[in-house]
Amino acid sequence: MSSTIDHLLDEERQFAPSPEFAAQANGTADLYERAAADREGFWADQARELLHWHKPFTQVLDRSNAPFAKWFDDGELSVAYNCLDRHVEAGNGDRVALLFEGEPGDERRITYAELTREVKKAANALEGLGIGHGDRVAIYMPLIPEAVIAMLACARIGAIHSVVFGGFSADSLRSRVDDAAARVVITADGGYRKGKVSALKPAVDQALADRGNGAQETVEHVLVVKRGGNDVDWDDERDLWWHDTVDNASDEHEAPAFPAENPLYILYTSGTTGKPKGVIHTSGGYLTQAAFTNKYTLDIHPESDVFWCTADIGWVTGHTYVVYGPLALGATQVIYEGTPEFPQPGRWWDIVEKYGVSILYTAPTAIRSFMKQGRQIPQERDLSSLRLLGSVGEPINPEAWVWYRDIIGHGETPIVDTWWQTETGATMVAALPGVTATKPGSAQVPLPGILVDVVDESGQPVANGNGGLLVVTAPWPSMLRGVWGDPERFKETYWAKFAEQGYYFAGDGARKDEDGDIWLLGRVDDVMNVSGHRLSTTEIESSLVAHEATAEAAVVGAKDETTGEAVVAFVILKESYLSAHTPEGLAVQLRSWVSEQIGPIARPRDIYIVSELPKTRSGKIMRRLLRDVADGKEVGDTTTLADTAVMSVISAQVK
Ligand code: WTA
Repeated sequence: MSSTIDHLLDEERQFAPSPEFAAQANGTADLYERAAADREGFWADQARELLHWHKPFTQVLDRSNAPFAKWFDDGELSVAYNCLDRHVEAGNGDRVALLFEGEPGDERRITYAELTREVKKAANALEGLGIGHGDRVAIYMPLIPEAVIAMLACARIGAIHSVVFGGFSADSLRSRVDDAAARVVITADGGYRKGKVSALKPAVDQALADRGNGAQETVEHVLVVKRGGNDVDWDDERDLWWHDTVDNASDEHEAPAFPAENPLYILYTSGTTGKPKGVIHTSGGYLTQAAFTNKYTLDIHPESDVFWCTADIGWVTGHTYVVYGPLALGATQVIYEGTPEFPQPGRWWDIVEKYGVSILYTAPTAIRSFMKQGRQIPQERDLSSLRLLGSVGEPINPEAWVWYRDIIGHGETPIVDTWWQTETGATMVAALPGVTATKPGSAQVPLPGILVDVVDESGQPVANGNGGLLVVTAPWPSMLRGVWGDPERFKETYWAKFAEQGYYFAGDGARKDEDGDIWLLGRVDDVMNVSGHRLSTTEIESSLVAHEATAEAAVVGAKDETTGEAVVAFVILKESYLSAHTPEGLAVQLRSWVSEQIGPIARPRDIYIVSELPKTRSGKIMRRLLRDVADGKEVGDTTTLADTAVMSVISAQVK
């Protein structure tokens, strides 16, 4: 990360919003004043203005059981009704909700009326399978309309969805299905990626077949959308085609209301230990902040904008900025199934031109890879419909920020850099695009009603111009409500570090500049951020040592020009394997092993076969030193190593 940070520290440019942009923007400076005057009252107003409540709430924030918190607890609402039926009832049924583009070029335009009808059918189908309030449903799908429909159908009947990214392996799917004890898995035969059908159903079959861990089989049905047309194995008792089950279900379905704190979904994310944790989000507070940030940070005007958030539904960004937020506002949005470079590197810009996308929300990794391909590709397309750009998932370096604005945003569009996490549920730190003069590389200011600070190890706020740890100092509506099945882990991971102050510890380093604006500097724990995707060093290490050839492994996030960080592994092989195989051959094997075990995104960029690892006297691996090696830098202070010579051995072996 260090070169990004050096650049960040030198950056002094500022871009004020144009008067025209400011004049039409949803977000105005008075939001900050209203929130500062009465924070809880502000959020209560937002919840009432942005959502329909079947039963109005009278309580706002309840933190009597801190660090657990409840918002709008005595209110009742239907998340699905808020995202669907109410727009139809308000006369907007003909407005397009989803502009779907498949990778092969197929298209579907789905209006709010149609989407509502499809969700009603899917809700009836799930109920027909005996699924109801509180049941868990795993969703393992490509980014096709049925994925959105499946999520909303769960929400409609009060079932809790757990979306598992379609790029994860059968093993990863199995551990998530087991942890949540899902009763149904919704999947597709396959989806399109890079011009080919990438199969999904076989991974589900595999996940449900070899249950070596002794977990009880909880899955009763697998509901399969036909998308790829690839051959699939079929279990007549268990498997059902979506087109038989859902298409034939009734399209009458009254959306019941649930309490505001009813769980909406579980989403697994990497932490500092090997086991992913199931972050729990609930309904009323989550949907309030989802709608609020889509309206004010991303400035969505549902009657006129075409929004495109490029995230997959497997990540939290796809939950809040593809499904729940834009649909709660009644917006029109693009969803694209495939990869940016298929069949040619201008595919995204063709989509922007074709649908007249006005707001684009994507990750710095994507922007950096477009930079590499050169400006001609976007410049050959008409991108004049774009009026606002957003960035999410990792720190954006000023070069990429300025390129994004100049080349994609024709030198005019505001850019909002949005900091948040799976755990925060929605954006926390970001500019209001009609108000804030933006600085390339800085997420800048907490949203109205959100209290964030940068503190030192003892929890004291740092002075402007200094760095420290990012904390959230008061509960927020879309905060995680817990870790599935593990309340202790929730307390330990997020609240123990600053227990005295009652602050939420985000795991990110940050700095306040002379104006008090916040600059994010990357993770301070063993979590890596590769292409905006969170990966745990420990999880990949566990996968590597699970291979029979491996004796020991250490994984670090090394600097990478395109992906931000890249996975680099240092592996000690068992003697018996070294004599029978070449180190290069084993490195290749280990890379595909990790890919199969966790998923291709976790595949190490480099694997170095070494004879030793740097350890402290207490046996802790000093990843900091390995990171120096991986970055090709001078190795830092080695005095706390048990054997100070070990780093020269490793450096020699890596060369
Ligand atoms: C990082 C993705 C800098 C951060 C929404 C955080 C960012 C982790 C930004 C969460 C940003 C996200 N600037 N860093 N604008 N946005 N991050 O849970 O390290 O997949 O802790 O949520 O991504 O990743 P997650």
